[in-house]
Amino acid sequence: MNAKTDQRGRRLRPVRIAPSILSADFARLRDEIRDVERAGADLLHVDVMDGHFVPNITFGPPVVECLRATTDLYLDVHLMVERPERLLEAFIDAGSDRITIHVEATERPREILEALRARGKGAGITLRPGTPVARVLPLLDAADLLLIMTVEPGFGGQAFMPENLEKIAPALEVRERLGQERFWIQVDGGIGEETVGRARAAGAEVFVAGSAVFGRPDRAEACARLRALAAEEGERVAEE
Ligand code: DX5
Ligand code: ZN
Repeated sequence: MNAKTDQRGRRLRPVRIAPSILSADFARLRDEIRDVERAGADLLHVDVMDGHFVPNITFGPPVVECLRATTDLYLDVHLMVERPERLLEAFIDAGSDRITIHVEATERPREILEALRARGKGAGITLRPGTPVARVLPLLDAADLLLIMTVEPGFGGQAFMPENLEKIAPALEVRERLGQERFWIQVDGGIGEETVGRARAAGAEVFVAGSAVFGRPDRAEACARLRALAAEEGERVAEE
């Protein structure tokens, strides 16, 4: 067991790598998924976009159903859709393991998180870069994951916005108050070899990477590099 702790004595959780299929070759999705399974991905991040909440359209429940039939990887579904409550049942029935909703997209985020847990699913909450972290802090007792967006949601391959990492510290304080076993902290957007260490140093534990994994010819090497760089940075912070 990893007994490393950060400067404040908080136990560091192991690094988890979550390739985002947004940057995969959709015409070869099964092969792409096999490739990241072999590469040691810890979970599969699925970016759902509706053309309203974000200016792009991706997958619906039928695609998640096909993913479920083809992999045992944990399906981490990021819903970038208006009023996610309308689509919740469909994405649950399709076989999602965890569903993350945007706090800006609904008037009843707590109800949705509770509904997800009641159905035995992971409940994630996230926010756009421009949304203050204070909007999500009061919801964290009902969540299994806080996703910190480090780009404006909508597209892969954008530049990392480091100022969003400042949202992690107040969330870690809430987690301390609630007890160590509560929610995970995930980062999404612009994560790659140059940025993964900074995100780890700020306290992130789950790293979504689209172009930095699927954009590389050798996905095993890409995942291993990201994992090693994040772990290295975690060790360094622990030793400071
Ligand atoms: C952006 C998505 C991300 C995206 C990340 O709206 O939520 O998951 O796939 O892509 P990269 O890693 O290329 O920034
Ligand atoms: Zn995402």
